[in-house]
Amino acid sequence: MNAMDAARAGQRQPSRSHQPRSSHEARVTYAPRSPRRASLVCVVGAGYVGLTTAACLADLGHDVCCVESNPARLDALHRGEIPIVEPGLEEIVAATTAAGTLRFTSDIAAAMDGCAIAMLCVGTPPRATGDPDLRQLAAAAAQVSAAATRDAVIVVKSTVPPGTCEAIGLLAVDHARAGVTITIASNPEFLREGHAVTDFMHPDRVVVGSAGARAAELVADLYPEDVAMVTCDTRAAELVKYASNTFLAIKISFANEVAGMCERLGADALEVLEGVGLDSRIGSEFLHPGAGYGGSCLPKDVAGFAALGHTLGWPVPLAEAAQQVNTRARHSVTDKLRLLLGDLAGRTVTVLGLAFKAGTDDVRDSPAVALVHQLSRAGASVHVFDPLVFLPGLPATQVPDPYEAALGADALVVATAWPAFAALDYDRLAKAMNGRVVVDAVNTMDLALLAEAGLEPYGTGRGRPVTFHPVVWQPLQWTASG
Ligand code: NAD
Ligand code: UGA
Repeated sequence: MNAMDAARAGQRQPSRSHQPRSSHEARVTYAPRSPRRASLVCVVGAGYVGLTTAACLADLGHDVCCVESNPARLDALHRGEIPIVEPGLEEIVAATTAAGTLRFTSDIAAAMDGCAIAMLCVGTPPRATGDPDLRQLAAAAAQVSAAATRDAVIVVKSTVPPGTCEAIGLLAVDHARAGVTITIASNPEFLREGHAVTDFMHPDRVVVGSAGARAAELVADLYPEDVAMVTCDTRAAELVKYASNTFLAIKISFANEVAGMCERLGADALEVLEGVGLDSRIGSEFLHPGAGYGGSCLPKDVAGFAALGHTLGWPVPLAEAAQQVNTRARHSVTDKLRLLLGDLAGRTVTVLGLAFKAGTDDVRDSPAVALVHQLSRAGASVHVFDPLVFLPGLPATQVPDPYEAALGADALVVATAWPAFAALDYDRLAKAMNGRVVVDAVNTMDLALLAEAGLEPYGTGRGRPVTFHPVVWQPLQWTASG
């Protein structure tokens, strides 16, 4: 059994060196590696990835200085406030800052003084073309290179297209002081928002791409000792990240395709997809239909993967189909409401949820926010409640209570799968509403209980009413002669 098979089987392989065997051959190693040394680390960017990385590395015993250029964010961190919602993060930041192993600054030169590892965790937002905007990354790499007082490894944790690390290497040479050598490593991050600390501390794998063994070893030694470590070259590591997010997006889009079929067949997609996902070759995660995938990464990275395909002269139609299916999914609620209510102009629609998924206050590319805009453009009056998010400028009335949001509504939509929504008093909702229609886009409520409360519930893929989407098969021919 080779290492990759062992990884699939969840077995541990004996330790081997981190050195890539060739420029195109990855290897997977398991602990025990060489004993982990505490390192002095500079983390650039204190967002979801940077702040989690900085705090967790400090918690693992490293001496971390986290550089943040946004003054408001930095001030909040200096006051001990955590600018993002991540379970467990506040406690780790408090403990490590108190212990002196985590510090925050805006001064990159001070952070790099004597430091041999800088991790770049800055944003790479999408441009209209689908390519990511790499300006934050280039600026951070130039600043770090200029500030390095000794040979250093720049570790790119931000998600970037393959080839970026090589470009950063050239930029680093231009900015580094005489006699200082900068090496570039790719170490993409796979954490999920809302699970950032757990995902960082217990990753499925850590991927390190570099041109040399020494840089890979330095990066690998930062992490907990018992994780699967994939070492390869930088292009491969960069592509692992793009390919992983694109595969997740394709899986979700496939679930949404099946959901649409189920609605038209009168079948229940939750049953169908459970049956599909129990095949261990497929797996049940990321097979939940909903209002389309959103957030700051999946849409951006599928777009980046597709743009990369065009650049390479190797289009990637599967990824592009996932984008099309996702666009359709992100209009599915408005389409349903039009089928059920007719013209939405002058109607009142309640939307429960604004965050792009439960467990976060992040609204970047949120399907729920997109829905509010669609409804508003259609002329509906929109009432909104989210347990964590208040979004200035939204074309909706935002209220701090779900029952108040439901007052007088012709229809209610659940757009974010907050568990608290499932636990609402459905009778109270029914009394507050004017109409009966409930569209649970994220399949979090109990449809039978909603019906018992006198409401008319619809989920995503919960192929209920043959009257809603009548089955349109041609009559089957049963005779042998056909
Ligand atoms: P973010 O926008 O939340 O945080 C980036 C931070 O970097 C900001 O606070 C910004 O002010 C700071 N910054 C930018 N330039 C700087 C500089 N020169 N010096 C100091 N600070 C600087 O971004 P994020 O969500 O943490 O994502 C960062 C990268 O990681 C992106 O490439 C993203 O695709 C990738 N990623 C994100 C996640 C996630 O769950 N959010 C997961 C995996 C990978
Ligand atoms: C995603 C990946 O899961 C992380 O591994 C990755 O590191 C990260 O992107 C990134 O690169 O930034 P995240 O954006 O936090 O993490 O959110 P996910 O949990 O992946 O959800 C993304 C979207 O897909 C959400 O809108 C969610 O509601 C939707 N989704 C997810 C579904 O519609 N169905 C599913 O089965 C799963």
